Amino acid sequence: MLRIAVVGHLARTAGDYNLSDMPGGAGRMDVLCRCINASFFLSHEFRRDVECYLVLLGEPDPPKTIRFSGERVRYLSPDERSAGSLIKKALGLPVGMEFRESTPGVEVRRGGLADLLGKYHFSVLDEGGTDIRCRDDLPEAFLLSDHLNFTPMEEEMLAERERISVGPRALHADHAITVLWNEIDRRQAGW
Ligand SMILES: C[S@@+](CC[C@H](N)C(=O)[O-])C[C@H]1O[C@@H](n2cnc3c(N)ncnc32)[C@H](O)[C@@H]1O
Repeated sequence: MLRIAVVGHLARTAGDYNLSDMPGGAGRMDVLCRCINASFFLSHEFRRDVECYLVLLGEPDPPKTIRFSGERVRYLSPDERSAGSLIKKALGLPVGMEFRESTPGVEVRRGGLADLLGKYHFSVLDEGGTDIRCRDDLPEAFLLSDHLNFTPMEEEMLAERERISVGPRALHADHAITVLWNEIDRRQAGW
């Protein structure tokens, strides 16, 4: 099981946003929707062996975490609006510290990066990290930032974490996930 988490620094934490304005009013929720797409979709196939966590830190009620589980998710199609609409529905639920399901395979809870780091051993995907091709085995959980860098406080929380790079250039987060999957796919196929 691969776990991918993306921190959405400005991503709205209420379901009151307009699906036509995800880059604006929803705090770059479009970036997170593309990360969902890259985590799960192949051409005519769906990756079931992955969970994707979105850590939402924008107004009005941060922090919240949304979990998409590949094994169970339904009603998700590859367009951004589809993921955006499932996130919106999840954000409409009242939440506590336990995950609560909004639609099959999509859950929401209160809590942010510190809670997630306490649960799984995430490595950080970072263009300045160790080349992924120099690694014999790979971690099973990877953390990314959205369009912004990690904040100094987040960097402090991540100071001891291993950093892995998928290439020498800074990519968009969803592209970094695609390249990560490509590296995993190559290994699993024995290339
Ligand atoms: C748009 S980048 C964040 C801002 C970026 N540091 C910059 O200076 O433009 C989004 C995220 O994708 C991941 N990422 C981008 N390029 C990467 C690479 N070459 N290797 C590993 N992760 C990468 C990192 O997690 C990064 O925080």
